Amino acid sequence: MKPIQVGLLGIGTVGSGVFNVLARNQDEIRRRAGRAIQIAAVADLDTARARAIVGEGARVVADARELIANPDIDVVVELIGGYGIARALVLEAIAAGKHVVTANKALLAVHGTEIFQAAAERGVIVAFEAAVAGGIPIIKALREGLTANQIQWVAGIINGTTNFILSEMRDKGLDFDVVLKEAQRLGYAEADPTFDIEGVDAAHKATIMSAIAFGIPVQFDKAHVEGITKLSSADIRYAEQLGYRIKLLGITRRRAEGVELRVHPALVPAKRLLANVEGAMNAVVVHGDAVGTTLYYGKGAGSEPTASAVIADLVDIARLMDADVAHHVPPLAFQSHTLAAAGTELPVLPMSEVVTSYYLRIRVADEAGVLARITGILADAGISIDAVLQREAEEVGGEGSVQTDLIILTHDTREGGMDAALAQIQQLPTVLAPITRVRKEALS
Ligand code: HSE
Repeated sequence: MKPIQVGLLGIGTVGSGVFNVLARNQDEIRRRAGRAIQIAAVADLDTARARAIVGEGARVVADARELIANPDIDVVVELIGGYGIARALVLEAIAAGKHVVTANKALLAVHGTEIFQAAAERGVIVAFEAAVAGGIPIIKALREGLTANQIQWVAGIINGTTNFILSEMRDKGLDFDVVLKEAQRLGYAEADPTFDIEGVDAAHKATIMSAIAFGIPVQFDKAHVEGITKLSSADIRYAEQLGYRIKLLGITRRRAEGVELRVHPALVPAKRLLANVEGAMNAVVVHGDAVGTTLYYGKGAGSEPTASAVIADLVDIARLMDADVAHHVPPLAFQSHTLAAAGTELPVLPMSEVVTSYYLRIRVADEAGVLARITGILADAGISIDAVLQREAEEVGGEGSVQTDLIILTHDTREGGMDAALAQIQQLPTVLAPITRVRKEALS
């Protein structure tokens, strides 16, 4: 069969990985795909760098539109990133009848509905395994391997930068700012790490997994997004003493009333495999009604791990591109015309309706009755306490003011109820500092 002709938009870290892995494993890939996969052209503003990577193996152009207009190209691989020019080029490639492979989670989480609809109308495939958890085939698992299941929840460590920072904070007892600087120096964190440390990158990925797990439209605007910048090493230490690790989790859960879609730091029992995912690694746990709990672990970023996912998509396209459109796998696992109605039936719930348990750290004056007043407010709100830890009191300021940290773990409760109770507790004159609240996930 005729080789499929691929055009790469952007040849940075991932693009060069795709080029190298395709060259190295070409025989096996051809045997799997049933035809060869050739990079015919590369578009990159830095044509000298692109030429240095591809040599004489592919045509190099500066203008992405020249590549999209080339009738010999079957598949466009978008590795530019962001929502701006990438969105325009992906839509143009679809309009030109090209299949598209993208690693761009931000683009799909925000503009996925528009892009998938355009692809369906034009009869082309949009594939995006590399957009979530890099080399881990989690999209394939959710969309195809688990297709028999009613998926109940998905929870993952889906941002390597923040997992690296949290691992270092725990290992070395250092604060966030110190570890972030070190991570930047070592190249684990970008010069502008905002999307990673504020949870946005993880929320893009959680949004995509939520849509595939539950057959609803991508709705990044409804995701709750909270990063790790406010975590202190004290909370990581206290969590450890109570048998937990703090991880930045992307969570999506189906409930009768709707879908939870949230990214935030969470205490995870130390005995869970997810709690032991360290450094820049990623892992995703999926719970389905038939299969039970399954775990996927691996590298969530990097040149060849991400290339592994991009090439898997190219192989899928090579196998399906001549098939009737009705035989294409729907990009979000469910037949596209069912998504909008499912989205109405299963709305993304506001954070006040989320049900979870909590770790609270409350700085209090060490006086008689303080604990009783706090637990009284929680009891009145119907919030049940799981454990209490009180640290040794310390004298502050040398004037006899004795303070202590009170750590409270609660059972499951509605977030709106917890917000109201915490607002009341914060008003107590014996509560001396803003209360720290971290959610707790049993993942059982
Ligand atoms: N910046 C991401 C991470 C990798 O730290 O995991 C790409 O999504």
